[in-house]
Amino acid sequence: MARDHVDGRPEKRQGRQQRIDQLVGAHAGRLSQRLQAHRAQLFPESTRRELRRFTSGEAAELLGVKDAYLRKLHLDGRGPSPEIRAGGRRLYSHADIQSLREMLEAGAKTPGTYLPGRRAGDPLQVICVINFKGGSGKTTTAAHLAQKCALDGYRVLAVDLDPQASLSALHGFQPEFDLLDGGTLHDAIRYEDPLPLSAIVRRTCFTGLDIVPGNLDLMEFEHETAGALGRRSSELFFTRIGDALSEIEANYDLVVIDCPPQLGFLTMSALSAATAVLVTVHPQMLDVMSMCQFLLMTSNLLGVVAEAGGDMSYDWLRYLITRYEPGDGPQNQMVGFMRSLFGENVLNHAALKSTAISDAGMTKQTLYEVERSQFTRATYQRALDSLNAVNGEIEGLIQAAWGR
Ligand SMILES: Nc1ncnc2c1ncn2[C@@H]1O[C@H](COP(=O)(O)OP(=O)(O)O)[C@@H](O)[C@H]1O
Ligand SMILES: [Mg+2]
Repeated sequence: MARDHVDGRPEKRQGRQQRIDQLVGAHAGRLSQRLQAHRAQLFPESTRRELRRFTSGEAAELLGVKDAYLRKLHLDGRGPSPEIRAGGRRLYSHADIQSLREMLEAGAKTPGTYLPGRRAGDPLQVICVINFKGGSGKTTTAAHLAQKCALDGYRVLAVDLDPQASLSALHGFQPEFDLLDGGTLHDAIRYEDPLPLSAIVRRTCFTGLDIVPGNLDLMEFEHETAGALGRRSSELFFTRIGDALSEIEANYDLVVIDCPPQLGFLTMSALSAATAVLVTVHPQMLDVMSMCQFLLMTSNLLGVVAEAGGDMSYDWLRYLITRYEPGDGPQNQMVGFMRSLFGENVLNHAALKSTAISDAGMTKQTLYEVERSQFTRATYQRALDSLNAVNGEIEGLIQAAWGR
C-alpha cells in the first residue's frame, strides 16, 4: 500500500529530486571560493591589509594642530619621519600619527589634549550598536565609530557579535575561511572550556584598533544558553560577555559591539555589559514601526534580566538616524516625529546617505580607509563631514561619561 503520509505530514510530491541542503551547500562553497579570489584581487600582496597613508593636512586635522606646525616638527627632526612624495608632499601612516600624539601629549599643558582616552579611575566604555532591523546601519556605524575613535587616539576593541560577520568582513576577515578553528567571541563566552579573550583578539590595520571577529560559531551561544536554562544550570548567561571583557579591560578605552539583528542571548548579554547604547534607525515608516516592536521586546526581556540580577545601568542611550536624505519629505517627517518623541535621546547629527559610504562597502572598506581620489571631492567630503560629526558627538558622550 502506497504511503502518502509520513508522521502525519503529507509526503512531498514525487519528482522533487534535489535536496535543498545539498544545493545551498554547493552554492556556499562556490561563493566562498569566489569571495576569496575577489579578496586576493583587491589586496594582492597578502591577506594582511595595510591602511593607506594620510596627507599632512589630514594628519594635522586628526591631531588638531596646524599643518605648518607638523611641517616644522618634521624639519626639526622631531617625531616620526613621514614618507616624502613628489613635490615634498608628506604622508603619515596611522602609526606615525599615533607617535606624534604621544609626543605632543607628553609636552601638553592640559592632559588629554592629544590622547583622549581613559585616565585613572575612568571606567571602560562599552557601546552596543543595536536594532533588530537588518540594514539599519549597525555595522556601518560600528565600523566607522571604532575606526574614527582609533584615529583620534583612543584604544579601541571592536567586537563582531553578529554571526553574519559583516564587521569582520569590513576588517578583512572572511569568516568561513579565516576562522576555521574558532576565533570568535564564542570561544570566550561558551560554558565549556572558555578561552581568555586575550587569546582571541586580533590586530587590525588601524593602530590602536583590535577586533574580535565573528562567524556562525556565535549562534552556538544561543543553543548552549537555551540548554543551560533548560537544565536550570546555575551559570548566568547575561554576565558572560562582561566577564570576558573584564580580562582585557585595562588594554582599552572603549569597546564597540556590533550586535546581531535579533534579541537573543548574545544581544542580552552584550547589553548587560554595555555602558552605552546606540540604536541605529533609518527614518522610514516601516523601519520606525519595526523599531517600536524592538523597543517593546527589549524592555520586556531586559526587565527580566534585571530582575535576575543583571546590570542594566548605562551612561547614555542615543538613536542615530542613518542613511538620511535631507531632501526627502517623508524622511524628514519621521525624523521630526522621533525628535518630538525621544528628545535629546536622538543624536543631533545624522549619518547622511552617501554613495561614498556604500561604494566603500563594496570593496569591504570604510570611508576612513578608501583613497579619497576614488570619489569626487564633494561626495567624499560631504560623507566624511557627516560621519565625523556623528562620531564627534558620540566621542563627546564618552568624555561626558568620564566626567569631562
Ligand atoms: N550612510 C550610508 N550611506 C549609504 N549607504 C549606507 C549608509 N549606511 C549604511 N549603508 C549601506 O546600507 C547597507 C546596510 O548597512 P549595514 O551597516 O550593513 O546595516 P546592518 O548592520 O544594520 O544590517 C550596507 O550595504 C551599507 O553599505
Ligand atoms: Mg550588520
